Amino acid sequence: MKTFIDALPKVELHCHIEGTFEPELMFKLAQRNGVDLPYDSIESLREAYQFTRLQDFLDIYYQGMNVLQTEQDFFDLTWKYLEKSHQQNVRHSEIFFDPQGHLPRGVSFSTVVNGISEALKQAQTEFGMTSELIMCFLRHLDEQDAMDTLEAARPYKDLIVGVGLDSSELGHPPSKFERVFTLARAQGYKCVAHAGEEGPSQYVREAIELLQVDRIDHGNNALDDPQLIRELAQTKLPLTVCPLSNTRLCVVDSMEDHPIKKMLDHGLRATVNSDDPAYFGGYMNENYYAIVDSLNLGKEDIITLAKNSIESTFTTQQRKQDLLEELSHYASNH
Ligand code: ADE
Ligand code: ZN
Repeated sequence: MKTFIDALPKVELHCHIEGTFEPELMFKLAQRNGVDLPYDSIESLREAYQFTRLQDFLDIYYQGMNVLQTEQDFFDLTWKYLEKSHQQNVRHSEIFFDPQGHLPRGVSFSTVVNGISEALKQAQTEFGMTSELIMCFLRHLDEQDAMDTLEAARPYKDLIVGVGLDSSELGHPPSKFERVFTLARAQGYKCVAHAGEEGPSQYVREAIELLQVDRIDHGNNALDDPQLIRELAQTKLPLTVCPLSNTRLCVVDSMEDHPIKKMLDHGLRATVNSDDPAYFGGYMNENYYAIVDSLNLGKEDIITLAKNSIESTFTTQQRKQDLLEELSHYASNH
């Protein structure tokens, strides 16, 4: 099954570029920029990656991104992720970035977006790998901060396919950003939101009804509400599920208890993603291995998951068609 997963043409829909920051690169860039890290070695940094909830991780994640300063830094970070993803046969990726993690440090919007976008362009040329960018609002900050970020993105609209909502979920419901999402949608952005990761099923409902999202990021806790399950099965609203993230952040007790199998059984459009692979112990393949091993999934399930991802992308109809054909060819030959 491992070789089947390795060579499977995959699509990733939920990966934070700042969450792909491997300790080796972090130390290298810290030295290049003359930034002091509060760890004396790569090993001691890795040892700090012990989380019991989302906030434990976020504290370390925001600390790590302080190292990123120049366009070259954002290029290098993105390029490493793209190389790794290409090795794992990821054919298309929709990548999150957190402008509000950078703008207050004096790093300009153009530095961030141009550095990332140059790497995306190079991956298309060198690997034939396609991608899209999604700008996330940090939900622990206020509505006005998100509005200002939406405004700052205006000159870069052509480089950004959608907006998302991430960071500390509990106490920051989707309703807080209803007006921002209404504006973003009017400007032509696709909309997604993290919901039901640590927060209740009610937050998933709010994301759907108030933010009118095109996908839910995570969505695990939607399974607490039978009526919501029926609606998700009917509308096929995609869920971008992140198995290793969920066990590392203790939002599920063990991989054997992971809800992704139940989601498939209910007919929900669940997909597999890595979230913050440098922090959670694995990229796309490792996430597939984890659920296949623990939930006894078969090849049919894997193909369903891979197909769900393609059907949930924000790419062109033509690219979607090409990806579906590539997958269908793979499925009939393996
Ligand atoms: N930012 C990066 N990873 C995240 C996650 N898993 N949940 C919320 N915000 C995040
Ligand atoms: Zn996430």
